[in-house]
This record gives sequence, C-alpha cells and structure tokens, in this order.
Amino acid sequence: MANVNQKIQKALNEQIQHELGSSYLYLAMATYFYSQNLDGMAQWMRAQAKEELAHAFKIYDHLIERGIEVQLAALAEPKKSWNSPLEAFEDAYKHEQFITSKINELYKLAMEVSDNPALVMLQWFISEQVEEEASVSKVVETLKMIGNSGSGLVMLDRQLGKRE
Ligand SMILES: [Fe+2]
Ligand SMILES: [Fe+2]
Repeated sequence: MANVNQKIQKALNEQIQHELGSSYLYLAMATYFYSQNLDGMAQWMRAQAKEELAHAFKIYDHLIERGIEVQLAALAEPKKSWNSPLEAFEDAYKHEQFITSKINELYKLAMEVSDNPALVMLQWFISEQVEEEASVSKVVETLKMIGNSGSGLVMLDRQLGKRE
C-alpha cells in the first residue's frame, strides 16, 4: 500500500465513481434526446459522456502511478427521462455543481494532508469544472430564451450537434 493518506485514497476512489456516474448520466440524457429526435443534443451529450469517462481515467491513472489501490464501486441506475430539453440541461447543470463541490472537498482534504501530487492533479479539475459549468449554463439560458419555439429548438439542436 502506498504511503498516501487513507482519507485521500478513499476520496479519490469515490471521485472515480462520480466521474463514471457523470458519464452514465450523460449517456442516459443522450438516449432521451434520441427518443425526442433531437440528435444534435444527443451528440452533445455523447461527447460529454466521453469526456467524463476521460476524467475517471485521469484519476484512475493517478492512483495507478502512485500505487494507490483502485476500488471500483457500483454505479446507480441513471434517470431515464425528462419532461423537456430544458429540464434535462438544468439537471446536467445541477449535476456539474455537485461535481464541483466534490472536487472542492477533495482539494481541501489534499491541502489538509499536504498531498502535493493530488493538489496538482486537482487543479486541472478545478479549471475544468469552471468550463463545464459555463458551457452547460449557456445551453440552459439559451433554452429558456427559446421557450416553446420549435424552430429555435431545431436551430439549437443543429448547433449543439457540431460538437466533436
Ligand atoms: Fe468530470
Ligand atoms: Fe463534468
């Protein structure tokens, strides 16, 4: 077992689970958007699901490199449907805020135990969360402006579908 604080080891493992859970949630949202014929929004969520998977791997690699034991836990079944695109993106925004709070807790813990390697890695996540909250919030605000306009929704769908 690596010479790393036990609480940090546990919290980093839990963060892998949160990132995988995020990926699972966005895949569920992609599936919902396909069912609504909003293929562009589905594409956006698929791309997001892949990013979250990459986040999980980033922490996973950190644990492997430091000889910290990886402990993978069960993932909860994600929600399957939403009442509107706005509701789904609002859920995504709330979820990102939750993830930000988890990253901040981890950072605080890493400071308390002076875990410098974890602090450096977590700084990347702190910047990433600022970007993610901003991009999801922007879609939420646009959907609010669109309201019940079908043509507005089609245009936004086309725009979001351009995400690689
Ligand atoms: Fe993430
Ligand atoms: Fe995220």
